[in-house]
Amino acid sequence: MSRKPVVLVTGAAGEVGNGLIHHLTKSAQYDVVALDLKGLHTVSGSCAARIEGDILDRRLLERLVSEFEIHAIFHLAALLSTRSEFTPATAHEVNVTGTLNLLELAVEQSRWHGERVRFLFPSSIAVYGLPDLATKAEAGPVPESEHTEPTTMYGCNKLYCEHLGRYYARHYRQLAVDRERGGIDFRAIRFPGLISAYTVPHGGTSDYAPEMIHAAARGEPYECFVREDTRIPFMAMPDAIDALLALMQAPSARLSTPTYNVAAYSPTAGEFAKLVRDAFPSASIAFVPDLRRQAIVDSWPAEVDDARARADWGFAPKYDVTRTFEEYLLPNIKQRYATR
Ligand code: SER
Repeated sequence: MSRKPVVLVTGAAGEVGNGLIHHLTKSAQYDVVALDLKGLHTVSGSCAARIEGDILDRRLLERLVSEFEIHAIFHLAALLSTRSEFTPATAHEVNVTGTLNLLELAVEQSRWHGERVRFLFPSSIAVYGLPDLATKAEAGPVPESEHTEPTTMYGCNKLYCEHLGRYYARHYRQLAVDRERGGIDFRAIRFPGLISAYTVPHGGTSDYAPEMIHAAARGEPYECFVREDTRIPFMAMPDAIDALLALMQAPSARLSTPTYNVAAYSPTAGEFAKLVRDAFPSASIAFVPDLRRQAIVDSWPAEVDDARARADWGFAPKYDVTRTFEEYLLPNIKQRYATR
């Protein structure tokens, strides 16, 4: 029986999943299967299936293997960095065991159809851990291989899953006599903080930037939990989604590493607040640093070096910070809150 190839998206109802699925369902090449714990009513109705369930439920994953011919997986489900610090063991379970389950599902699928399953994994700037602000100031754009000593459970989980993906792609069952072909084609992107016009993230530590602009658009005061001089990289959501799609389509011969940095711009929290105030003159933004969350953001680089992504698969963000505000955030956010 020949079935249409399926792309499976976990974390489908989350910030990245929603926008990604919007693009994927426009392609005639694949059917899209959306998986999330809840909230799937927000996901495009053009999916072949929208399944409410847990990536830790192995029976559910076995059912997916038997029902669909999965050729690619965007494994987006995760607990973000702030939330993970409150429940580290649960974070490990979701972020690591969940990923392991999906990697196993991908191996099992490739046994059935004989092709490598493309496995797209969103990693994060949280995999970096700079020891102090002086090192952060001197580091310049940090390449993939440096300063990878994360201070958060989420960062440890993401870094380890990058290694798990590399293992499954290149060394899986290396001692087995019957070592099979096929398997997994693992590709990861280390995302900076992402900013969407449509959704506000939950439980992240880069959340101050999106929270600030969404609060201003709603006419609500905002207390920013980091200092004004705090600097980390950010990116507009459409560029993040384009990056995932571009990396998914890149020919494997062009990829020199399983894991790529991407970035677009690195304003300070104060510079970001100025842009928000320019757009919403009545915005009330105060800086009230939470020292513990501040320490997490301080351990993340001010800039990352994304030269490899640019050279290998043509990564080139369309939105600088001005264009993000003028052409993406402001028109869409104003419309979103005007129609409430
Ligand atoms: N946005 C994420 C977080 O703050 C980092 O990848 O947890």
